[in-house]
Amino acid sequence: MHTITKSKTTPKGSPTSKKSPIASVPQLEVFKNQNAILRNPLPFHHENFEKVGDTFMVKLGPGYKIIFTRDTETIKYILQKNHKNYQKSPLQTKDLGKYIGQGLLTSNGEHWRKHRRMVQPAFHKKKLVGLLDVMWAAVQEEIRRIDTGKVQNVLPMMGDLAFQVVARALFSAEDIRERMQKLQRITILNQKMLIREMRRPYLKWWFQLDGSVKRHLALSKDAQNILDGIVEERLASGEEKDDLLDMLLQAKYEDGTAMPRKQLLDELLILFTAGHETTANALSFTLYLLAKHPEIQEKVYQETQKVDFENGDQMQNLFLLIFTQQCIEEAMRLYPPVYIIDRVSLKDDVVGGRNIKKRTTWLLSMYELHRSQHWENPDEFRPERFAADVKKNHSDYYYPFGAGPRMCVGNNFAMYEMIMAVAGILKKFKLTTDMGEMVLDPLVSLRPKEVMLRFLKR
Ligand code: HEM
Repeated sequence: MHTITKSKTTPKGSPTSKKSPIASVPQLEVFKNQNAILRNPLPFHHENFEKVGDTFMVKLGPGYKIIFTRDTETIKYILQKNHKNYQKSPLQTKDLGKYIGQGLLTSNGEHWRKHRRMVQPAFHKKKLVGLLDVMWAAVQEEIRRIDTGKVQNVLPMMGDLAFQVVARALFSAEDIRERMQKLQRITILNQKMLIREMRRPYLKWWFQLDGSVKRHLALSKDAQNILDGIVEERLASGEEKDDLLDMLLQAKYEDGTAMPRKQLLDELLILFTAGHETTANALSFTLYLLAKHPEIQEKVYQETQKVDFENGDQMQNLFLLIFTQQCIEEAMRLYPPVYIIDRVSLKDDVVGGRNIKKRTTWLLSMYELHRSQHWENPDEFRPERFAADVKKNHSDYYYPFGAGPRMCVGNNFAMYEMIMAVAGILKKFKLTTDMGEMVLDPLVSLRPKEVMLRFLKR
């Protein structure tokens, strides 16, 4: 059990109202529970939010504080209103960046701003329309690989699906599956290494000494070489494909120049990293929830009867799958793949009427916000919360794709892909499961330990 030094519930309201200092959880409590926290920090967060209020602080050493919050006004203030004073922590820029390079996800400041401006247009809805057919082709290919009858873990299946969809949308080529599989293996291995480093930060010196960091950096180099080979082939072919790679090749800085090759490779690798695990997790959670709720699954199945991905207009199909979309949105409320967003303040600030020193780390808990008392029976799976007429009531309490200028650049891409995948799977299969409660494995992203489902042919 954790003891709290100063108890103070954060009242709701404007971040400029006068308040007493943020209650802090003693460092000793964190150290005593560090193994459990590293395995799964969610119970620690929840316990303290319930005891202390919507914002609490952990002091981890002289001048090093982390503030946790699930207060929506504070979250909006940091991500939107005063976003200029907040940037991503070294965990994302340095630790993750060392394996996947300096691109959109892993950079701050001017470097980030410049590249966001170049990459974002490739993800505009209008551009994505042209990619829906290749997305569907990739989804369908993965669906064809599903075995029926036996119980299987859908997490790696959805991992393959999400990876192949990003690959096809980027490169629109069909003959790169083998190279993409190698790239996927490298991405997974490097992710595992990062997790080892995060779980045992005190062993960082050892990971350097035993050569693991070096080995994984060499893998990153292999990944870059694979991508470089594909870019070279595209340039040599002189073909225009209108896929994401073409858009990135054509994108220009303000001075009219194109991205240097190294930067292009970093951005490509980052799109794989950012776009594959999050989507795979969201899909796995959605399929689990549908398997657990046969009546809701049946409603989705009925809806899928209205669409024909083989012949129809794909955008029209997506518009018809309204309830399917609500199920995915509700799954991401219960299990937001990006369950924590971190930021570090650049200058001293006043947040919620409290003076906060520069270089304070903030952890914004989307998991807790998504299950806060604002939601009626927050732990229940109720897709109708996202019906068009009521959806906007929750907009302040729901941020699966983040908010503000750093909001997910691939949010529409991800939604289109997930609707296609869920509808495509449910049209073909009935899902059943003997699983009990969901066991979570949160670290870089929130993922299920496993999702064991049976696919029965319809
Ligand atoms: C269900 C799937 C997804 C979820 C839940 C998700 C969630 C998020 C969130 C919450 C952020 C903001 C993080 C922060 O503010 O610190 C983010 C950023 C980002 N996402 Fe996604 N994402 C998903 C899929 C995708 C896909 C499919 C792509 C691309 C193919 C993508 C590319 C990115 C990139 C590049 C960033 C960094 C943007 C920036 O900092 O400017 N994401 N994502």
